[in-house]
Amino acid sequence: MLSNNIQLEGKTVIVTGAAGFIGSNLVGRLFREFQDIKVVGIDSLTDYYDVRLKQERLAQIAALGRDWTFLKENIADKQAVDRIFQQHKPSVVVNLAAQAGVRYSITNPDAYIESNLIGFYNILEACRHHGVGHLVYASSSSVYGSNKKVPYSTDDKVDNPVSLYAATKKSNELLAHAYSKLYAIPTTGLRFFTVYGPAGRPDMAYFGFTDKLRRGETIQIFNYGNCKRDFTYIDDIVEGVVRVMQHAPEVQTGEDGLPIPAYKVYNIGNSSPENLLDFVSILQEELIEAGVLPSDYDFEAHKQLVPMQPGDVPTTFADTTPLEQDFGFRPSTPLRQGLRAFAQWYAGYYK
Ligand SMILES: NC(=O)c1ccc[n+]([C@@H]2O[C@H](COP(=O)([O-])OP(=O)(O)OC[C@H]3O[C@@H](n4cnc5c(N)ncnc54)[C@H](O)[C@@H]3O)[C@@H](O)[C@H]2O)c1
Repeated sequence: MLSNNIQLEGKTVIVTGAAGFIGSNLVGRLFREFQDIKVVGIDSLTDYYDVRLKQERLAQIAALGRDWTFLKENIADKQAVDRIFQQHKPSVVVNLAAQAGVRYSITNPDAYIESNLIGFYNILEACRHHGVGHLVYASSSSVYGSNKKVPYSTDDKVDNPVSLYAATKKSNELLAHAYSKLYAIPTTGLRFFTVYGPAGRPDMAYFGFTDKLRRGETIQIFNYGNCKRDFTYIDDIVEGVVRVMQHAPEVQTGEDGLPIPAYKVYNIGNSSPENLLDFVSILQEELIEAGVLPSDYDFEAHKQLVPMQPGDVPTTFADTTPLEQDFGFRPSTPLRQGLRAFAQWYAGYYK
């Protein structure tokens, strides 16, 4: 196991995408775990999904009464990013701001280029000019494209993205590698696998299915249900991010006198893929249990099996061996437990 080489106590951390699902949970966890930490959150509050959910997440963070600064800024604005880094001098930066979603990238490519490429480049430049000790950034399981080999390993070749979203995430890894090499910036990319949980993203299947079932609409199950997903509970993702933040890849000099890239990429996934139909069954049971749907709900009448969609992949399955070896941790929250937490939150939120 690696030992920590970054102390977060007494330090400033910048989290981009702080009003987002993963970002807001990360900020909350940082404040719970570290007594003396300053967190600066950046988020442009895009209207990709209901902005009220983002504002509520921010209100919950503010209510903690800790050393918290929120800045409504766009990471694609280079001057703004530079100004923020200049002013706050972060030790660690966690870049989670991005235009997420595979299907949306087919109809709205501009948003991906702006946030995921220009925005990420600006973050790299700011890390370079302001001496950031570790940049941790979100990549995605989507970089594996239609990889046939399972489980997906970070040693697999990932040069065949099947969506623009995936292409931007793979590009982030390439840009990070170049910056680690050229400017000795320690970077760690994290390939997240389908993250779910309370106050999650309304565009994701479990949330969208719940909304539709509650409204009496029909849900569409892609690839006739022959999809497997490595669903990863939010607390597991956050645990992984917090551990990774505290160990920056070592900066070393090669025989040529130039830096060896201080660069790492890890999978963070549950490494236990679930069939989509089984997932829907558990979700249904938990929605009834939480009182979101009545116990006599006719699920069969609200389900439609449809073909695969462009940009989708049939399976995601994380090999988390390197994460386990280096950080002594692998996600393990059972799907039922995670969906129960989601259903209970949903019941309260939409009451
Ligand atoms: N949730 C998942 O299943 C999953 C899986 C793989 C990778 N990821 C990645 O993890 C990260 C966080 O995902 P999430 O699920 O929390 O998504 P999210 O959409 O809830 O959070 C992203 C946040 O970034 C903000 N943002 C977008 N563009 C911005 C910009 N240009 N400047 C400033 N803020 C901007 C949005 O307003 C949003 O609040 C993203 O990079 C995403 O691609 C998520």
